[in-house]
Amino acid sequence: MLNIQKLRTTKHKILALGLYPGIIQSMLDYDYLTGKSKPDLKAIVATGKNYHRAFWGDQDILIPVYPNVDSMPSKLRESISLFINLTSGRRTRSSTLEAFESCPNLFGGAVFAENVPEKHAIEIYSKIKKINKFVIGPATVGLLIPGSLKLGPIGGIQAEQLTTAQLFEPGNVAVFSSSGGMTNELINIVTRLGKRISFSLSFGGDRFPTVTPIEAFIAAEKDKETEYIIYFGELGGYDEYELASAIAAKKITKKIIAYIGGTISEMFEMPPQFGHAKAMASRGDETAKSKTKALAKVGVKATNSFNDFIKHIGKSENVKLQIENEQLRMENKISEIQKRTPSLFMNSVSRDVGGSVEIIGEEMLSFATTKTYGHIVGSMILGRQLKSKVTAEFIELSLKLLVDHGPYVSGAVSTMIAARAGKDLVSSLASGLLTIGPRFGGAINQAAGHWLEGVGQNISPSEYVEEVAKSGKRISGIGHKKYRIDSPDPRVFEILKFISNIKKTPYTDFAKDIEKITTSKKGNLILNVDGAIGAVLLDLLTEKEEMEVADLQKLVDIEFFNALFVIARAVGFTAHYLDQRRLDEGLFRLSSKEVGFFNEN
Ligand code: ACO
Ligand code: LMR
Repeated sequence: MLNIQKLRTTKHKILALGLYPGIIQSMLDYDYLTGKSKPDLKAIVATGKNYHRAFWGDQDILIPVYPNVDSMPSKLRESISLFINLTSGRRTRSSTLEAFESCPNLFGGAVFAENVPEKHAIEIYSKIKKINKFVIGPATVGLLIPGSLKLGPIGGIQAEQLTTAQLFEPGNVAVFSSSGGMTNELINIVTRLGKRISFSLSFGGDRFPTVTPIEAFIAAEKDKETEYIIYFGELGGYDEYELASAIAAKKITKKIIAYIGGTISEMFEMPPQFGHAKAMASRGDETAKSKTKALAKVGVKATNSFNDFIKHIGKSENVKLQIENEQLRMENKISEIQKRTPSLFMNSVSRDVGGSVEIIGEEMLSFATTKTYGHIVGSMILGRQLKSKVTAEFIELSLKLLVDHGPYVSGAVSTMIAARAGKDLVSSLASGLLTIGPRFGGAINQAAGHWLEGVGQNISPSEYVEEVAKSGKRISGIGHKKYRIDSPDPRVFEILKFISNIKKTPYTDFAKDIEKITTSKKGNLILNVDGAIGAVLLDLLTEKEEMEVADLQKLVDIEFFNALFVIARAVGFTAHYLDQRRLDEGLFRLSSKEVGFFNEN
């Protein structure tokens, strides 16, 4: 149900289904030119990227991109009030219905695509009617409510088009057409004649629009800001007879100025099919002339020529402009938009602000002197200030416990060998860091991925161990060369003790249950320090940082969890480098006795 007043007064959160940069940017520019503090568009469903780069005025911004609606954080999904569907005609039905299933507070949306199969449109219409929502289209340019909402390319794509068409000043004239082009044209004509739009939409030229013309007229009738309705109809179909009946029954009382295009078709012996699927007068009463007569009969200013149509629009009274010269208000904003160029890089960690450095939104000195090291590292690698001191404490504990584990470990050995080969600090450190991988130090992330998958899919630990074993892979976070069930890693004990600060620990519980199974097979298949940190951190990020599974998965995807080992052990490797430089034992070389040889060829 299209409730314009409700749409006009709601602060919208919009989801784009599909990525169409020009349309998306035009919606952002409209919001910016309207004077909003931030865009209504909150997220995009598309594949192949995590963020879409766009502009807010002349500033670069990043809009989060999700592979599907369900992978969006639930708080975000619940906040979405409208969608603009930019996917292909074939994908329209599935993407539209998925949006309604996953976003419980949707008012509705608009479908831009053409070539939506008619049976899909009919299915969408029948489902949306039942839940009293709306979907404008298919093949629509969208919905415009001046000063409040631009949903789709309606009114134009370029910022200059938006200001020229005076689309920001709310008015009293509703503008409808099947055609997107005619809708935009009429908006320009109406505003050039000194009027202002209350709202405007295009139905799309398909035979089965999912918001029908009569539904739009009823919405205009109920909209207290609308006093006039400007309607550009087309030959074909019976919408105008339905409208005439509603007017006769006094369901529609507002003044309507209409023109029905397509009179040319009556010059042909055989009625031609015009561009829109609906635009064909296959029977006499579907002609432009018949429909014009039917409307005129019930008091509509239904003109026989486009020129008369424009003349009548010009005669309707002008709305008093609330802002003396809207153009002036737009001037600076438009020039910002016209001058903007994309930055070469985007970053959300730090920046210069007024000559001083800001890190994660905090002035550098304040950040460095008032925050703990655990908070600093945790906030920087998360990309936002940590919410909880408990998370900061855990990260600090992990950094300390991981700082070194003796000169025996592979990464330390790599560093020491490079140092004794005469390499400098950075090269020797790099040699050690390059040794970190799936078996040594680089298993925190994969372990977190295991625990996230196991708990998320509600797989029993025994099933999970079997599943991984069948795949021929190892369970990251499990096993150690030094420690065993009867000689445990003291660091793991410290890490697991931390869960006393957390109410719910599903990930740590799962990891410990996995360990029970693996250690029953082999004593050294313990939950190692990588696996323990991954598990406890997942529980902390969930409870203390209020992150959802979708957010945690994104952290696993970008290898977030391994950052802790790399950051911590860089200290240990550096210490081993400097130590070797101090001891200066010269080049390291193994003897033939220390390296076995076997070659069966
Ligand atoms: N999951 C399943 N099976 C395992 C695992 C595991 N995580 N680790 C070892 N095994 C099995 C091996 O498949 C092998 O089985 P097999 O005898 O049937 O062939 C047996 O245990 C012995 O394997 P090895 O590699 O010889 O055992 P090792 O003690 O050398 O392995 C290691 C230690 C490398 C850590 C191993 O447990 C592993 O790869 N774990 C997963 C990666 C990981 O968590 N690394 C982090 C370690 S802690 C740190 O680096 C800070
Ligand atoms: C480490 O922290 O380096 C260890 O757990 C790995 C090892 O082999 O001791």
